[in-house]
Amino acid sequence: MIDVHCHLNFHSFEKDYDEVIKRAFEAGVTKIINVGTKIDSSEKAVELAEKYENLYAIIGVHPHHADKLDPSAGSGWLRQLEKLARHPKVVGIGECGLDYFSYKSNAIVKPELQKDVFIKQIELAYKLKLPLQIHNRQAGKDILDILINYKSYLSDPPGMFHCMSGDIDFLKKVLDLGFYVGFDGNITYKGIAKGETIDLLDLVRFAPLDRIVMETDSPFLTPEPHRGSKNMPEYVIITARFLAKIKDCSYGKLRDETTKNANLIFKL
Ligand code: NI
Repeated sequence: MIDVHCHLNFHSFEKDYDEVIKRAFEAGVTKIINVGTKIDSSEKAVELAEKYENLYAIIGVHPHHADKLDPSAGSGWLRQLEKLARHPKVVGIGECGLDYFSYKSNAIVKPELQKDVFIKQIELAYKLKLPLQIHNRQAGKDILDILINYKSYLSDPPGMFHCMSGDIDFLKKVLDLGFYVGFDGNITYKGIAKGETIDLLDLVRFAPLDRIVMETDSPFLTPEPHRGSKNMPEYVIITARFLAKIKDCSYGKLRDETTKNANLIFKL
């Protein structure tokens, strides 16, 4: 089982990442991809990837942080990202994308700014022939518009949508573009999430097994029955077992398929 999206590079794992990584590998996780959301967490993801054989990094700027890039450095952040992206253990660009959900902490970052930072990362991924790991929250239409515009820039496969959400029509379009989709512990939560229109399980049912990858988004989105505590990569197995039941297949088959998919997208 591979966890294709987590943040052991975040502050909440500062004291126990070593233990958490060890436990994940003991539990049956074979590879872990840590994802950056700005320059410093991207650097940290690369540092961790250097320390452990089966740990990889995805580096990028999350739409949430699009307004926190040092303006005095011009697009210096992009040069920093490019330097990081050339590291042999960096397997993708992300998490990048658009986020139109209004957060208590910083509401919605100006969409034009988000788009600019997203497009620059699509161009970087193209330059370095890396897949994208996309963050979308209630911005599906604009993300699709951009991806369709930049279709000739996408690799084969182009990458994946992390923590898939949206409706069936959006999922269809994402799959048509060649993207894979990641599911997290929030598929174990009951009901429809705030601002969404359909149950995540309908997306799980619709997505074909040969296009699904598993992730945790640790320390967030902890699956039931551990909801409320810190999420960890070992819990990817809980979410995978749950998803296997929904897809009416064995855990072994789901593990093998999603592992194959992750290896293919990120050339692990
Ligand atoms: Ni994340």
